[in-house]
Amino acid sequence: MIRKTYSGTQRVLHWGTFGLFLIQLWTYPAIGRTHHAAHLGEKVEGTDLMLHSIHAFSGGLILVFALVRLWLRYREPVEPPVFRWDAVATLSKLVHFALYAMLILLPITGVLKMYVLPAAGPVHVLLTRLLYGLLVLHVAGVALHALFWRDNLLARMGVKLPFQRQI
Ligand code: HEM
Ligand code: HEM
Repeated sequence: MIRKTYSGTQRVLHWGTFGLFLIQLWTYPAIGRTHHAAHLGEKVEGTDLMLHSIHAFSGGLILVFALVRLWLRYREPVEPPVFRWDAVATLSKLVHFALYAMLILLPITGVLKMYVLPAAGPVHVLLTRLLYGLLVLHVAGVALHALFWRDNLLARMGVKLPFQRQI
């Protein structure tokens, strides 16, 4: 069966991932502080250790969410949104593919850096930069749909804006 729009579960997992991404941004500075303190032989703050663990846990949850989302869209594909230009449709597919790749590779490199292979650290950091770039494209694309074309794209992810056209 091909779905017309994203299911409630898919929407919750999308916005849940957004929330967990914000948690990653909030917790990562503590990782640097714990490493710095340990390196200098200073006392590591308890709160920093907790934030460090939250970063790892929330990253693990992001991986689980991404795998469930991929399985859901494989089981019941969602009809692609309407695009004005073919090039934008292709770009959107590429960005979604790359976003999923980041949501899987970031936790893998994070766990590697933390527990197995410290050299994975710079790869993890590089992937965060790629993720930022993809998110700029992603949010710019959504803004184009929502504000310029005023179609129902954002409503597919559960956000209904009052000024969208009926299509
Ligand atoms: C999608 C999931 C994740 C995101 C978005 C994310 C994001 C980030 C960000 C923004 C940084 C700071 C980069 C910088 O220094 O500028 C960072 C660093 C770090 N993260 Fe994650 N992270 C994720 C998953 C994980 C997981 C699952 C773990 C471990 C189990 C982890 C462990 C680390 C470590 C150890 C660092 C320090 C890396 C270094 O400085 O060498 N991360 N992460
Ligand atoms: C303000 C922030 C965000 C907005 C407004 C937003 C909005 C949207 C919308 C409207 C869609 C559905 C596109 C369609 O109809 O096909 C979507 C899909 C998607 N978003 Fe976001 N998003 C945001 C943040 C994020 C973040 C932080 C991530 C990941 C780190 C993300 C990853 C994805 C992925 C992978 C899809 C494709 C879902 C699929 O087809 O399986 N988004 N987003």
